[in-house]
Amino acid sequence: MDSTMKEKLDAIVREAEEKLKKAADPDALNDVRVNVLGKKGALKELMKGMKSVAPEDRPKIGALVNEARDRVTAQIEERKKEIDLKIMEDRLAAETIDVTLPASKAEIGHRHPNQIALEELERIFIGMGYEVIEGPEVEWDEYNFTKLNIPPNHPAKDEQDTFYINKDIVLRTQTSPVQARRMEQGNLPIRMISPGRVFRSDEVDATHSPSFHQVEGLVIDKNITFADLKGTLDKFAKEVFGPDTKTKFRPHHFPFTEPSAEMDVSCFKCGGKGCRFCKGEGWIEILGCGMVHPHVLEMCGIDPEEYTGFAFGVGLERIALLKYEIDDMRLLYENDIRFLKQF
Ligand code: DAH
Repeated sequence: MDSTMKEKLDAIVREAEEKLKKAADPDALNDVRVNVLGKKGALKELMKGMKSVAPEDRPKIGALVNEARDRVTAQIEERKKEIDLKIMEDRLAAETIDVTLPASKAEIGHRHPNQIALEELERIFIGMGYEVIEGPEVEWDEYNFTKLNIPPNHPAKDEQDTFYINKDIVLRTQTSPVQARRMEQGNLPIRMISPGRVFRSDEVDATHSPSFHQVEGLVIDKNITFADLKGTLDKFAKEVFGPDTKTKFRPHHFPFTEPSAEMDVSCFKCGGKGCRFCKGEGWIEILGCGMVHPHVLEMCGIDPEEYTGFAFGVGLERIALLKYEIDDMRLLYENDIRFLKQF
């Protein structure tokens, strides 16, 4: 019988056994499988040498090769079981849960001062029968400006103030476009507020941010007068800043209202005498407001002969800063939980 074939075969089996002993993971096992039993493996290579074996020896050699194949196959299987078991044991050890350990504390956040102020505003206006609606932050120039009576050459449209997406689309600079959207829907009368984020191309400082929040208000009905505006906003001011709060309306200009005003509240720190908080004025500016301009009503499909209305816009951060006596707006955007937990 051909002894070189037998020696080679023994060597293959021995080497396979060595490698299997060392194999520590399924990949290593697979390497042995491919290198020994595979299509281009050592056993197939060996069989190529059969040509040189004497014909009478070939069946014997063939039987030996088969035996070797079975043996290596069985050993791979066995080693696989061991490795799988080891993997499982390692996992069980690594993933053990000690149910007797105290739970790690879940960090919960805190409502943001803006959110607290907003919820208070919503409570007040919902209590007066208003609906709360939202509009898009990315807005048509048409709604942000044109339908609010803001002409193409108005300074607010300057690129220094407004973020333009393209010539027709802006990041809304105010929540007022929601007025136009709501009026266009018809379905009168309207009593709505619309809170949301607005954007202006401002540098960050203690009182400015390129992104802040406003709450818009709009009332449209028959026979709405400036007295309704004053009564509503006075009630709002007393709810937010306390029952002794007085209000004052100063003439102002907004393109979408006529007449327009700014509302001041008496300083809730000094009661109006003048202090550091109100910079000696006794009054604090709170919001812009006015009677909806007839041209705006018309552009939004409402007959100004039949309906009138008032509108207002409040800076939410401004209310939060005043109410909680925070002197730097940047604190509102840092989301430091130690700061937020104070409110
Ligand atoms: N949109 C105005 C602003 O951003 C605020 C405002 C003023 C809104 C008067 C109104 C209003 O609805 O009537 O400065």
